[in-house]
Amino acid sequence: MPAVSHSPSTRTWVLSTPATSYAVRVDDSGSPRHLHWGGPLTLDQAASLPLSGNQGHSSNEGRSPVGEELPVDGGERYGAPSLQVRFADGTRALEWAFDGHGVEEDPERRCTTLRLHFRDRYYPLRITLGYQVHGDSDVIERWTELTNTSAADGDASDGDASAANAVDLLRADSAAWSLPPRDDYRLSHTTGMWAAETQLHRTQIPYGETVLTSRRGTTSHHAQPWAMVDAGDADEQHGQVWSTALAWSGTWRITVQRTPDNLLGLTAGAGHDGILLRLAPGETHTTPRLAGLYSTAGFGGTSRSWHAHIRAHVLPHPDETRPVLYNSWEATGFAVTQEGQQRLAAHAAAAGAELFVMDDGWFGARRNDRAGLGDWTPHPGAFPDGLQPLVDEVHRLGMQFGLWVEPEMVNPDSDLYRAHPDWVLHYPHRQRTELRNQLVLNFARPDVAEWAYGWLTRLVGDHGIDYLKWDMNRPFTEAGWPELGGAPGAQDRLWTDYVRNYYGVLDRLRVDHPALRIEACSSGGGRVDLAVLARTDQVWISDNTDGSDRLLIQDGYTQIYPVRTMAAWVTDVPNQQSGRSVPLRFRFHSAMSGLLGLGGDLNEWSPEELKEAEGYVSEYKTIRHLVQHGVLHRLRAPQTHAVTAVQYSSADAGEAVVFGWLQQPRFGRPQPPLRLAALDPAARYREQRTGAVHHGATLLERGLDLPLPAGDWSSAVVHLVRV
Ligand code: GLA
Repeated sequence: MPAVSHSPSTRTWVLSTPATSYAVRVDDSGSPRHLHWGGPLTLDQAASLPLSGNQGHSSNEGRSPVGEELPVDGGERYGAPSLQVRFADGTRALEWAFDGHGVEEDPERRCTTLRLHFRDRYYPLRITLGYQVHGDSDVIERWTELTNTSAADGDASDGDASAANAVDLLRADSAAWSLPPRDDYRLSHTTGMWAAETQLHRTQIPYGETVLTSRRGTTSHHAQPWAMVDAGDADEQHGQVWSTALAWSGTWRITVQRTPDNLLGLTAGAGHDGILLRLAPGETHTTPRLAGLYSTAGFGGTSRSWHAHIRAHVLPHPDETRPVLYNSWEATGFAVTQEGQQRLAAHAAAAGAELFVMDDGWFGARRNDRAGLGDWTPHPGAFPDGLQPLVDEVHRLGMQFGLWVEPEMVNPDSDLYRAHPDWVLHYPHRQRTELRNQLVLNFARPDVAEWAYGWLTRLVGDHGIDYLKWDMNRPFTEAGWPELGGAPGAQDRLWTDYVRNYYGVLDRLRVDHPALRIEACSSGGGRVDLAVLARTDQVWISDNTDGSDRLLIQDGYTQIYPVRTMAAWVTDVPNQQSGRSVPLRFRFHSAMSGLLGLGGDLNEWSPEELKEAEGYVSEYKTIRHLVQHGVLHRLRAPQTHAVTAVQYSSADAGEAVVFGWLQQPRFGRPQPPLRLAALDPAARYREQRTGAVHHGATLLERGLDLPLPAGDWSSAVVHLVRV
């Protein structure tokens, strides 16, 4: 099957991925309509399908809100519009006219792109629907390009001179998805808050509109820009699941619609309610990509397909093995000094760390969170000879050197703010709300983005810095840019330009310093999405380092995002966030199921604890190829089982590592063996620690007895290698 096939007589297109098909048709009114998203169909089969959502029986129904590729505000449509425009004379109702299609092959990126071109029947707007498929993935990427095709009148560089021909975008989603009709529908998604990100929920979808959104300027801790929908009948191993994920790191909205006649659709894109994008003559707005995936392999198979896709087509260095990291934040807080960091670095190196990251507190007058943010020169008292001696010492110890930065922020008590009070997001006559004593720099301003790029590239280049932890510790407030004036949409553009400039600075840094690796952080997991993953190497997914809370956070994170990006540290007890004292072994096993890092005050650890830590770090190095590059099977979920268990196996079934955690065993309630996945039934596997040999078939059929020690906070790791 070619990736794109087309029937001109029925104006039908079929996109084919290895295991799925997606079909669209342009109807008689010129509107793009949805035909199919599911298992493979030939062009003939797809062309025979009735248009979905075509159920208007009376003058009161209108077009169904489900069943169009990009429902617009216009005509007899009453659902949540994906595209809502207002033309210069105040007209709103959009009328589609079809303008042909184009198909492009890109052999290098192994992808095929279909573009369907449309325009408004009268007004100067071109609308292109983009679809991209890859030969090795069932993910379909979609987006929309919107161009104001009117000729510029007068001086278009003068913000409002073009108002006469402007096209206002009141809503511009990337795409809408429609599901085939089912009896019932269920939504899987994550909610969260600081230190409790990515909590997974599966709930029946109510009739009406369900909105997942962020209005915070960033992706947010509170909701993730992805959703999975099933008919209420899928489980971890089986069943049809339709899912979508947005590649955007600013505000966003996913609207799930369940119609009164029980159809289900989703529309999603960048931006929150009430903001406006004004397209000047000649200007094009390209939405971020919205990726969709259909799977018949349940939630587990859906996650594995996303992981494979993100590794193959999103991450910049997917095949790289991430080093064991040490981070100073929980150990030293703001009290960083060259001497103190060097002592930590010596312990970290002895424990087996390969990357040492100095966190907050190293610059300006930053001795607490009230001052210094924005002044990116080393604190003279703490680093009398600058950063180089510490960088050199860390390198001498055989580790890479990483540094914490928060380029988008400023403390009012800083030289930067005193020099540039106009650089922050603000409105006249409104207070500047401080959160954590800081304000948000307006990264949408080219001069601010240029300033950040300038000091960052110098800092990295001058000191031979290997790694940046790029943090962002508060949401937007008073998101104004007064210099742009009061014309409709003039200042709203900052919601988009800010994010693009954030990407721009990251992209430029990566070009300047190809060996530089970047950790994404936003008070933990406040800014994680496909676009962040395309530009960074790993994510600090939560400030909560409690080894047991983490099991839930990690379970939610890996629903879509691969373990290869999921950083996890072992820190001190009682834990700084939860106050809980989890034994070292459990803490390590929890963190070893991601990208292992150390974050405790190693100066205070006993020689026995340091020795034990060294043992876990070296064990991790023998299994991390499976954790980071293997295939994840969630064997028992933390929400529903006493034992939480995950398995990572090599693609060729030659090896697997199994992690299990039991927080509180109940006497008289034995744990059944863990039935493993993705092994060769005909092969035999040896447990590396004990030498015990098992048949693949018995591990698959009966299961593995996890060697969980007695008592609370029990955990185990079993590494199996084919004999
Ligand atoms: C945020 C991050 C932490 C740490 C602090 C430093 O909270 O998530 O890991 O870097 O900032 O201020």
